[in-house]
Amino acid sequence: MLTSQKIVDAMNEQIGNEFSAMLQYIAIAAYFDAVTLPQLCTHFYGQAEEEKNHAHRFVKYVVDTGGKLEIPAIPAPKVQFAAAEEAVKLSLDQEKKVTSQINALVDIAKTERDYTSDNFLQWFVREQLEEVTSMEDLLHIVRRAGEDNLLRVEEYLARKNGRGAGFPTEEGA
Ligand code: FEO
Repeated sequence: MLTSQKIVDAMNEQIGNEFSAMLQYIAIAAYFDAVTLPQLCTHFYGQAEEEKNHAHRFVKYVVDTGGKLEIPAIPAPKVQFAAAEEAVKLSLDQEKKVTSQINALVDIAKTERDYTSDNFLQWFVREQLEEVTSMEDLLHIVRRAGEDNLLRVEEYLARKNGRGAGFPTEEGA
């Protein structure tokens, strides 16, 4: 095995964390779908897809290093929200939590002098900076618009993503 059991255990746990983030984003996308905010809906389905890819990166790493893959049980996500702001704030908190989890993994890799894992994890360190920053931006915009003006957030996302402001297509949603 190219890495330690301690790292494999921590990475298996992180696979659960990434899938948990994926399920939470699916629940948030569904919430925005239900209240007919299609750009926000599409945005969060896109976030869910990113989390799935993060989980897959960890799965592949565990397999490539010869570790035993164990995918933990995933807790149910929160599915009901009082307002858009609550859903986006939860997303930001989730990204901050994942950043701490990634940092803890880097700590283990460095303590174990496991430079292969440290190198692998640096992609996630950069990714988390991007994810936290973009979710902070979205939360600011939602707060500035206010719950009665969420169509402004829709326009912002449509412009940012080069999409029309109408309903998303099958492949986008
Ligand atoms: Fe996989 Fe958004 O953290």
